[in-house]
Amino acid sequence: MLTEKYRRIQLNAAGMPDVNADAAITALNNHFDPEDFFVTRNGEALEVWLRQVDLNALSDAVKTVFTKHDGFGAMAGILPAVEGIRSYGINGNKRLYVGYNKERKVVDRKEKERRRGKHYYANDHGFCRQGNPLPHAFVDRMVCGDSEDVLKQLPDNCIDLVFTSPPYNFGLGYQEPRDANNGDATDWESYFAKLFRVFDECIRVLKYGGRIIVNVQPLFSDYIPSHHVISNYFMERRLIWKGEILWEKNNYNCKYTAWGSWKSPSSPYLKYTWEFLEVFCKGDLKKSGKSINADIDAESFKEWVMAKWSIAPERRMQEFGHPAMFPEELARRVMLLFSFRGDTVLDPFAGVGTTCVAARRNERRFLGIDSAREYCATAGARLKSIQTQGL
Ligand SMILES: C[S@@+](CC[C@H](N)C(=O)[O-])C[C@H]1O[C@@H](n2cnc3c(N)ncnc32)[C@H](O)[C@@H]1O
Repeated sequence: MLTEKYRRIQLNAAGMPDVNADAAITALNNHFDPEDFFVTRNGEALEVWLRQVDLNALSDAVKTVFTKHDGFGAMAGILPAVEGIRSYGINGNKRLYVGYNKERKVVDRKEKERRRGKHYYANDHGFCRQGNPLPHAFVDRMVCGDSEDVLKQLPDNCIDLVFTSPPYNFGLGYQEPRDANNGDATDWESYFAKLFRVFDECIRVLKYGGRIIVNVQPLFSDYIPSHHVISNYFMERRLIWKGEILWEKNNYNCKYTAWGSWKSPSSPYLKYTWEFLEVFCKGDLKKSGKSINADIDAESFKEWVMAKWSIAPERRMQEFGHPAMFPEELARRVMLLFSFRGDTVLDPFAGVGTTCVAARRNERRFLGIDSAREYCATAGARLKSIQTQGL
């Protein structure tokens, strides 16, 4: 029974002084709930009974006891022994060593994965691996124009990362020109048809192994799950879905404005304080790049691969005169987690140039495109101010 409840580790404790041993073991055990962790002595061995433990607490406890109870050297081996075995999960600060759900354990996992096939929808892609340089005229530029037209001027496979937030078609008051394509309030079929023509160009100019990351919010007012519609499109185009990041904006002010059928199940209105980032890869989940150009630190990496990012919305929209900016921090995280220093980043709906600004600050090349002259001018001014500040 005991061995099912706990994982047991044996340590050689030959030669430990008897007098100190029991006192040291009791002192160590006093630091932990016996349901989680305890130590016993079995002849010349020290036995560790382990269900779950906080490794920092274990390290502190072992140090304390070891210093107090002189000569009880076997105790020093407890921490490396526990660290050296695999845990099955995390419970708060504690690592779990037993009690994982056995039914979930897949027998012959690798073989089953092979039979199922990974990203089945994206395997027959036919993408070419040969990369091309981005023509000099487009490097570190904010170009004013329709992104479908501008992108047609670029060669295939010349961009490492596309990061963008497309127009929402909500009827936001974007600047001129406001024709059928970018008035931000056209019928949904035309809207998606245009968006997908731009995305087709993005896929074409993206290098093999490059990423397209689209910041999109569900168009809840018109009951259109645009994050699904867009993701399906990329999958149909044979891109690999790498994952989804939930951008928690914590903008609770949107919470209390409309309820739908108040206090009735007939038609309650669902509200969102978050948006999504859909992450897609062209040809390969792995991106080539020199490790010396990976510039994300360990703490950020650990935090950001947990795919829920809490970042406040951009607060300077009035200052920059744009109604739908994302914050620079969002672009920064995307770049550090998904691209290398020196990579080229494209934003085909660049607005007032937040992606470009983040790229410049983080030593990436960039190309931003927006159809509105005013936004391009503001983006240009933002970029210039960074240059002159020498950041
Ligand atoms: C959601 S905003 C992007 C804002 C940007 N992320 C920022 O932080 O400034 C979408 C932008 O797409 C631009 N746009 C709409 N249709 C376009 C098109 N066909 N080509 C280029 N830009 C377009 C709009 O002018 C608008 O600035």
